[in-house]
Amino acid sequence: MSIDPNVRFPAFVFTNDDTGAHRGVQEVGLSDIAPDGVLIEVEWSSVNYKDSLATTASGKVARISPLIAGIDLAGRVVDAAGSKFEVGDLVIAHGYEIGTGRHGAYARYCRVPADQIVPLPAGLTTREAMVIGTGGFTAALSVIALEDWGLAPGHGPVLVTGATGGVGSMAVSMLAGRGHHVVASSGKKEQEEFLRDLGARDVIDRSVLSDEDRRPLQTMEYAGAVDCVGGSTLANVLKRLQYGAAVAASGLTGGADLPATVMPFILRGVALLGIDSVQTPMEVRIRAWERLATDLKPHGLDSIGHEIALSGLESALTTIRAGGVTGRYVVRPGD
Ligand SMILES: NC(=O)c1ccc[n+]([C@@H]2O[C@H](COP(=O)([O-])OP(=O)(O)OC[C@H]3O[C@@H](n4cnc5c(N)ncnc54)[C@H](OP(=O)(O)O)[C@@H]3O)[C@@H](O)[C@H]2O)c1
Repeated sequence: MSIDPNVRFPAFVFTNDDTGAHRGVQEVGLSDIAPDGVLIEVEWSSVNYKDSLATTASGKVARISPLIAGIDLAGRVVDAAGSKFEVGDLVIAHGYEIGTGRHGAYARYCRVPADQIVPLPAGLTTREAMVIGTGGFTAALSVIALEDWGLAPGHGPVLVTGATGGVGSMAVSMLAGRGHHVVASSGKKEQEEFLRDLGARDVIDRSVLSDEDRRPLQTMEYAGAVDCVGGSTLANVLKRLQYGAAVAASGLTGGADLPATVMPFILRGVALLGIDSVQTPMEVRIRAWERLATDLKPHGLDSIGHEIALSGLESALTTIRAGGVTGRYVVRPGD
């Protein structure tokens, strides 16, 4: 398969310069995308909270300008650039500097360093891989971390905060699929049915956990938790964990601070497990994706993923920044 070196294609570009911050779709060529790496035809990308940060000046995530945004992709190799990959291989890439410090996935073509590429595992289509995307990968790392800590079905209710979002909805589905009693915390009352369809047994209002509470400890409830909200929500989760339980923390949609005391750690032996999907070592990445294609594969991927083209990104990025997304937007840059 060879491509016309003069091919032109649309890309979603964020620019932050003397004239101000701008984002939108414009036409680019192969010389405008990252200059090095395996050339991939992007079949699907997705919309993550981080993409909304990377396309606004206040987000402070974009490190080059202009930047073709898009932090994750699944697609087909069109030029292996001397790597172990072969033309036609189906692959996944996300994290590292993709869509933040080097041009990313919101374009028909993207170049990615070979050592940052995961072969698409059997059992997943490229679309399914991006419905999962960075959010689902982060949820998988969270579930794996909790189970490595000792969490098992039957231990008690497992809490998921920000439950209708990308990380949250994936975590609800994965935990329920593994037999855990899932409690979903959400600010979207109207999405209770969506959360129950994913497998949540109980749904609680976000305010139960997000209100500041000066007590150092609260009644022990949860055998484990997946938190992508941070702030006072994470502090309250720590206070409600059962003795010796853990929370896997990945996000900050509710704030980057952590107004907590050491009491849950020193009186209840609880653990705060940090989750990072950006620099995850490649062997861990490959193993997690293999599990995402098998025992951790979320059910309901079709209902979780909403398809958009590059022209739908402006609205999707604005909505996700405001906390308004339910499930995951998948982007087809070729449309
Ligand atoms: N550590 C990592 O490697 C990693 C990887 C991926 C994502 N993240 C982080 O994880 C977080 C979630 O990412 P995402 O892509 O899943 O975003 P998302 O789809 O927007 O989901 C976030 C959810 O958080 C809830 N939320 C929003 N604003 C809130 C507020 N002010 N207070 C409490 N809850 C709020 C909402 O769920 P409800 O309406 O249901 O409450 C929202 O849907 C982000 O902070 C992102 O940067 C980190």
